Amino acid sequence: MKSLIAIPVATFVAFIAISYCVPWYTYFKGRPRPLRAEDMRDQIESMFLASWRDYSEYGWGYDVYGPIKHTFHNIPRGNQPLGWIIVDSLDTLMLMYNSSTQYKRKFKAEILKSEEWINDVLDFDIDAEVNVFETTIRMLGGLLSAYHLSDLLEVGNKTVYLNKAIDLGDRLSLSFLSSNTGIPYSSINLRSGQAIKNHADGGASSTAEFTTLQMEFKYLAYLTGNRTYWELVERVYEPLYKNNDLLNTYDGLVPIYTLPETGKFSGMTIRFGSRGDSFYEYLLKQYLLTHETLYYDLYRKSMQGMKKHLLRHSKPSSFSYIGERERGLKGGFSSKMDHLVCFMGGLLASGATDGLPFHEARNRPFFSFSPERKSDWALAKELTYTCYQMYNQTPSGLAPEIVVFNEGNTKRHGWWQSPSGDFFVKPHDRYNLQRPETVESIMFMYHLSHNSKYREWGAEIAKNFFENTCIDCSDPRLRRFTSLSDCITLPTKKSNNMESFWLGETLKYLYILFLDDFDLTKVVFNTEAHPFPVLDEKILKSKSLTTGWSL
Ligand SMILES: *[C@@H]1O[C@H](CO)[C@@H](O)[C@H](O)[C@H]1NC(C)=O
Ligand SMILES: *[C@@H]1O[C@H](CO)[C@@H](O)[C@H](O)[C@H]1NC(C)=O
Ligand SMILES: *[C@@H]1O[C@H](CO)[C@@H](O)[C@H](O)[C@H]1NC(C)=O
Repeated sequence: MKSLIAIPVATFVAFIAISYCVPWYTYFKGRPRPLRAEDMRDQIESMFLASWRDYSEYGWGYDVYGPIKHTFHNIPRGNQPLGWIIVDSLDTLMLMYNSSTQYKRKFKAEILKSEEWINDVLDFDIDAEVNVFETTIRMLGGLLSAYHLSDLLEVGNKTVYLNKAIDLGDRLSLSFLSSNTGIPYSSINLRSGQAIKNHADGGASSTAEFTTLQMEFKYLAYLTGNRTYWELVERVYEPLYKNNDLLNTYDGLVPIYTLPETGKFSGMTIRFGSRGDSFYEYLLKQYLLTHETLYYDLYRKSMQGMKKHLLRHSKPSSFSYIGERERGLKGGFSSKMDHLVCFMGGLLASGATDGLPFHEARNRPFFSFSPERKSDWALAKELTYTCYQMYNQTPSGLAPEIVVFNEGNTKRHGWWQSPSGDFFVKPHDRYNLQRPETVESIMFMYHLSHNSKYREWGAEIAKNFFENTCIDCSDPRLRRFTSLSDCITLPTKKSNNMESFWLGETLKYLYILFLDDFDLTKVVFNTEAHPFPVLDEKILKSKSLTTGWSL
């Protein structure tokens, strides 16, 4: 294996030279009106490159990176890298390369450098267990979208990405053989193929984890013509729906753990936050990606269940939010909401219009005759507004990991209350990992409504990330961005950790928000913001890639 840390000195020096000429503060300090999309794209490219430069210099090749202390390590035991940060960032590099006016050559050089690393260093023959879900959405998803964009935008060698994706897909696909139901265990050893049960939660698998692999493996089946990938990922649904009587007993809402041996739920916690979220997301997105209408119907049932059991309004301003049921549908309601839930604005909006701009969808029968789609569209706007308020109301302008909405109760000791009174933040939930879900919804709402207020919100949030997650900010040669342990206190408290989704999702969605004419009917983003092309129905049929089960 080559040395993992290789500093391409020449590119770095060139980058510094360019950085100095850029008016870093021109937009964010005293911003001109009206808001110029091109200026915003420049600023977001600069933020991306600042983080990327720092990572390239001090952590290149490592999976986990701490920008404050320049610490790094790999995820699998044994210290071989999975490509966590590089693979997750590739398609952001490609989109920025395609649209950049200032840094086009820089982005191209970084794509080729990453591709070389993937080709020469990255090797998935790793004798260690990895999480099936995380590795699928980030690494398999990242390689597949790099393949797609490399092809579409004519940059790099797409074959490198597809070959790696097939190798990884084959290794991960062995996890589906772990139980008789076809529901995979949580982890797998990439070399031996041995699947390993979740070490906690009585060996149960997270429900959202094994129902958030389908887009990646179905796209892989489409590209390779290998039906096995498709069959393996669709098999998990039948036991889940039938063995739990999911549509009747649970109104389409899933408890967050499932026992792989029986397909039965374990525990009763129902939420749209962690371990629940992307179950719902991939129902809709499979329909959008593969045109399988069964998944739209299942999504519809789940949205009805959500509106009936989990949707509430805060006091005093009546912000809509999606709460939790920790003891099942018959148990009490909890007004806690993870920031993760903020993807729901964008999901509901794209489900309402099938990715068409609203002004086109509203004249089509599929929308105009559907009260449910109209209700979804209205709720999408409300939830996106709520999530924007979770940023707008904090001192840093950045949202905490979890909020508790006000149901008319008074503030508890030690909890922070938002200026409008509508939500609280517990002491342990004040952190901010630079998560993408709110800017994701804002991006969808902008492109689907063309309402410029969403770009204003996105610009504000970008500015707040710039000002309040920055280290050595005044020096463009050293500037970089990191997570926060506290976004409520000013100045914000920084923590030594840059999540790969800062580069792979948050900055990408912010960037796409400021692209003009981005067509959301042509792509579907996986849950890690990796765009796949909508698949051709005729080609799917010709390869026998169709729904293989029914209720
Ligand atoms: C790539 O750039 C071209 C030219 O600016 C643009 O028309 C196209 O939409 C861009 N593609 C993507 C995927 O952003
Ligand atoms: C692209 O990568 C593949 C796989 O590594 C290789 O066989 C092929 O020669 C490369 N193509 C070019 C044009 O470099
Ligand atoms: C199809 O994929 C499966 C699962 O990874 C693999 O075992 C099989 O060898 C593949 N078939 C072909 C023809 O490549």
